[in-house]
Amino acid sequence: MKGVILAGGLGTRLYPLTHVTNKHLLPVFDKPMIFYPIETLVKAGVTDILIVTSGPHVGHFLSVLKNGKELGVTHLEYAYQEKPDGGIADALSLARDFVDRDSVAVILGDNTTDANISKAVKSFSDGAMIFLKEVTDAQRFGVAEFDPKDPSKVIGIEEKPKNPKTNMAVTGVYIYDNTVFELIHKLKPSDRGELEITDVNNIYIKSGKMKWANLDGFWSDAGTFTSLYRSNRYWAQKNENDIV
Ligand code: G1P
Repeated sequence: MKGVILAGGLGTRLYPLTHVTNKHLLPVFDKPMIFYPIETLVKAGVTDILIVTSGPHVGHFLSVLKNGKELGVTHLEYAYQEKPDGGIADALSLARDFVDRDSVAVILGDNTTDANISKAVKSFSDGAMIFLKEVTDAQRFGVAEFDPKDPSKVIGIEEKPKNPKTNMAVTGVYIYDNTVFELIHKLKPSDRGELEITDVNNIYIKSGKMKWANLDGFWSDAGTFTSLYRSNRYWAQKNENDIV
C-alpha cells in the first residue's frame, strides 16, 4: 500500500502564523505537524509516501523532510497542487501516477493521532475505509449517519452539517482502492467550488463498498487556533509528564 499526505491549502484560519510557513510545518510540541501523519503511516508499514502540497511555502517541506529517511520513509515524493483551494479530492487526484495499481492510505497533514492503523492497512483488500471518532463539535467535520435498523452500518456522510445527526466525526484518515481516481475524475465541484472527499466517500457508501472503524486513541485536526492548541497540549502532556 502507498501513503499520501495532503498538506496543501493556505492555512488562512491560522493567519498570521501561516504567513511565514505552511500550516503543516508549524510545531506540534517538539515536531513539525507533518511528522505525526508520516509516523502514523510508517508505523503501519507504509513507507512509500507522497506529499501533496501547495501555496507559497512549498520549498520548506524539502528543508524539513529532505528524503524522509530520518522518519523511516523509504521513498518520498512531492506533488504540487496548482489550486490550493481545489479541495481534498482534487489534491488526492494528483497521486494517481504515484499510486499506480496499488491501494492508498491517505492522511490529512494537520491530523495527528496515536491510533495504530496497522491492522486496517494489512487486512485491506478493496473498496474504502473511513475512521470515525466521537467528538463534541461535530458540525466542524464530516459526520457519519447510521442505519437505524443496523447501527453498525454507515449510510451516509454529511459535510459540516448545522445540525449533525450523530457525534461521530469522519477523521482525516482514509484507505482507498485504486478505483478512487476514476471516481474523483468524474466528480463535480461542490457549491463551495471544491472536489469534496465526502462526495467520494458517499459514492463508496452507496455502492456498499465502504467499511469503517473507530480511530482508537487521541485524534485531532489542527487547522484552527483551538485545535492547534489542543494538539500541542495533548502531545506535550503525553511526552512530558511534568507539564501541567
Ligand atoms: C476535512 C473534511 C472533513 C473531515 C475533516 C477532518 O475538513 O472535509 O470531512 O471531517 O477534514 O479533519 P477540513 O477540516 O479540511 O475543512
